[in-house]
Amino acid sequence: MTQNQPNERITELRRLLASYSYQYHVLDSPTIDDSVYDSLFGELKKLEAQYPELITPDSPTQRVGGELLGGFKKVAHSMRMLSLNDVFDQAEVEAWVKRIDKLLPGRMHEFFADIKMDGLACALIYQDGLLTQAITRGDSFVGEDVTANVRTIKNVPLRLIAARKPTQRLQGDTLQNDTSKFLVGRTEIRGEIVMLKKDFVALNERRKEAGLPLFANPRNLAAGTIRQLNPKLVAERPLSFRAYDLLRDNPRDVPTNSFAYEAIRALGLAANLQASIFTSLNGVMQFVHEWDTKRNSLPFNTDGLVIKVNDRAQYVRLGTVGKQPRAAVAYKYAAEKATTVVKDIVVSIGRTGAATPVAVFNPVVVAGTTVQHASLHNADEIARLDVRIGDTVVIFKAGDIIPQVESVVLELRPVDAKPVDYKRLLAEQYPELEFDRPIGDVVYRVKGADSDLMLKRSVQYYASKGALDIDTLGEKNVVALVDAGLVKDLADIYTLAVDDLLQLDRFADVSANKLIDAIAVKKTPPLEKFILGLGIRHVGTQTAIDLANTFETIERLQQASMEQLEAVDGIGKVVAESIVAWFADPDNEALIDKFSSLGVVPFYQKKTGKLVGQNFVITGSLDSMTRDEAADRIRSLGGTFQTAVAKDTTYLVAGGKVGASKLKKAESYDITIINEQELTKLIEDS
Ligand code: IVH
Repeated sequence: MTQNQPNERITELRRLLASYSYQYHVLDSPTIDDSVYDSLFGELKKLEAQYPELITPDSPTQRVGGELLGGFKKVAHSMRMLSLNDVFDQAEVEAWVKRIDKLLPGRMHEFFADIKMDGLACALIYQDGLLTQAITRGDSFVGEDVTANVRTIKNVPLRLIAARKPTQRLQGDTLQNDTSKFLVGRTEIRGEIVMLKKDFVALNERRKEAGLPLFANPRNLAAGTIRQLNPKLVAERPLSFRAYDLLRDNPRDVPTNSFAYEAIRALGLAANLQASIFTSLNGVMQFVHEWDTKRNSLPFNTDGLVIKVNDRAQYVRLGTVGKQPRAAVAYKYAAEKATTVVKDIVVSIGRTGAATPVAVFNPVVVAGTTVQHASLHNADEIARLDVRIGDTVVIFKAGDIIPQVESVVLELRPVDAKPVDYKRLLAEQYPELEFDRPIGDVVYRVKGADSDLMLKRSVQYYASKGALDIDTLGEKNVVALVDAGLVKDLADIYTLAVDDLLQLDRFADVSANKLIDAIAVKKTPPLEKFILGLGIRHVGTQTAIDLANTFETIERLQQASMEQLEAVDGIGKVVAESIVAWFADPDNEALIDKFSSLGVVPFYQKKTGKLVGQNFVITGSLDSMTRDEAADRIRSLGGTFQTAVAKDTTYLVAGGKVGASKLKKAESYDITIINEQELTKLIEDS
């Protein structure tokens, strides 16, 4: 079986998700990260949306969220336990505020924001100050009675304490109202049951010592624990409760959300001290950014923030849509892991001759940016991961910047996926080169590649007539500069100063100044020349022009996917792979950054000229000019110079006699055949 068929992929995804879900809910021992589960679930949902006829009632997507398990008494909530709409960036927060403004025109609103804890929601019911019931969210209307288990949580008071006197208040508390009334009648406190990171680590350490399997993450463990039917077992697992809401029969008892937090603390429960009031969207966004960088230092796991309208009367007036209140949103930080399928493994040869394998995959969003390839570093890493073409892999962002392949989802491996034979891969992709792996080195290198020699060649190529055409930077000068250690990569030529050159025998005042000036004037090269100058394998003059015309900036070319590249006329799989591999090589990424930090800014000029859209092939030799001259002239008028007759060729220029097969091909494509005089006329008439 291969997984090219959507129905096969769907079946496999379902099987795998069901098994993960069993490990999580039943065995209480999840084997994967939540974001990996979410990513696979997302893929399934997308496929089912595309092929609704393939949806089956047992698909995990058909399960209603928070379905009740047996074993616990069902209890109706006094007020629905809602969930929140997710927002992911400032624009979405702004749109949310706009909607509120529209519904409550002219009203000033204050916001109240808190860290969103990654645990499970629970409602605690206190009657006359005494804990009588604890209920999970369930399906939002009806939850499960988990009172016995919640009683084992040490920071859940079994009896609320009387409000502290002002002098005893926590720092920052500004409690204006009397909270003693909360000790009378029904007080419902809602919050999140979490396992603190330190407790989770300690628990796993104890399990390790006892030779027991380790738990994968605190949220799943907390959720699984609270659903244990044996409270004794729950008591062995250190859970904590942090409140975020207080409900009374009379809503006026709680005028604002910030007041609810103060009252909660006064009654003896924990509420996050990070929560704050904000009077502007700017303040909220600052809070968002602050916690994006600091969130790892929190004692519990979080995946975002909760932002609410502070005034409870406004909150109620805004109402709900479906399961979500309009007056609050969850700001979600981007997932740092996702899954995708490896479509190809390509190899890039760096300027030192080192071969770097690169995995190319279906584009996927990780930590907020689209990722379509990742360096696999070397053959050992490929072997360690045992990554194969067709594999579903988990991608994460190391240091939040560089995408990396973390692991392979073995269960989703197509049966025909072959292990990567790295030596064969090298031979296939670089038949003209030989490679070896120096002893003690993890990297394969081009045999006999003297890195200085490769560097000299690449600088020479960059400076050559067809590329940047840098006056006086010919072979001998390049050799002198590299040998003197003044140029260690392509971008270094832009760092040279006259004084550097004067230290070398080859240069005197005039020649040094001349070279420095010649380099300086090429700081804003035409994009196509710059692309050509990078020396990407298979990217010749015409391909460089086509790439420049399609992508218009080096950054867009750098981010282009295989699909986008292959969509360019004249670019096939091999060329596309070579381009992707080149830009995925970390050395080359650094090189591009270095160029731009040195002020090298390639420019793109939209094609103009009377030959735009016309494609030329020249066969035989011309009398009045060389083929290169003809090609240059055609290109300068916006035309394209092709090396072989293709469907989209406009003119076949016949220099001398045209071979019968070419003629036949040209005729079958209905291509106009012209002679040298007619070409000259086309070129000169402009
Ligand atoms: S306020 C309408 N504050 O996130 C619900 N919720 O998707 C308003 N959560 O169901 C809840 N930390 O279980 C709020 N500081 C916090 C929270 C928080 C975690 C959970 C809660 C809620 C879900 C919303």
